Amino acid sequence: MAHAELSVGEVAARSGVAVSAVHFYERLGLITSRRTGGNQRRFDRDVLRRLAVIRAAQELGIPLKQVQDAFRKLPDMRAPGRDDWEAISSGWRDMLEARISKLERLRDRLGECIGCGCLSMDRCSIFNDEDKAACDGVGAVFLER
Ligand code: FES
Repeated sequence: MAHAELSVGEVAARSGVAVSAVHFYERLGLITSRRTGGNQRRFDRDVLRRLAVIRAAQELGIPLKQVQDAFRKLPDMRAPGRDDWEAISSGWRDMLEARISKLERLRDRLGECIGCGCLSMDRCSIFNDEDKAACDGVGAVFLER
């Protein structure tokens, strides 16, 4: 049976997040728990969704500070609903779209010249003769466009 409240061990087991990380996120105020009479932490089940979003954000390279700012919009006293989460995702949408299109460019162009200045690919002489891309910026100029 799915319990309404979970111990830190159950949270760690179900979320795949280490107990030490659960404590760390709690210290950052990203998640909250209550204490039992025996001073044990008990988490509401919605903590699992918060941890899933934190992990996804981290895998995407979204700084914890941005997650903290977003989570501050979530209600404290009740489990966040669809509208609450949509408010967060709409705030992240532009950033996520930019990351998605950058990942797509990387996927689609890794076999091509990316304008990084290496001039090591046969296509570099066609697309980046004499490293003319250096005039347009630093790094993989063609990936940034
Ligand atoms: S891939 Fe580096 S300059 Fe073309």
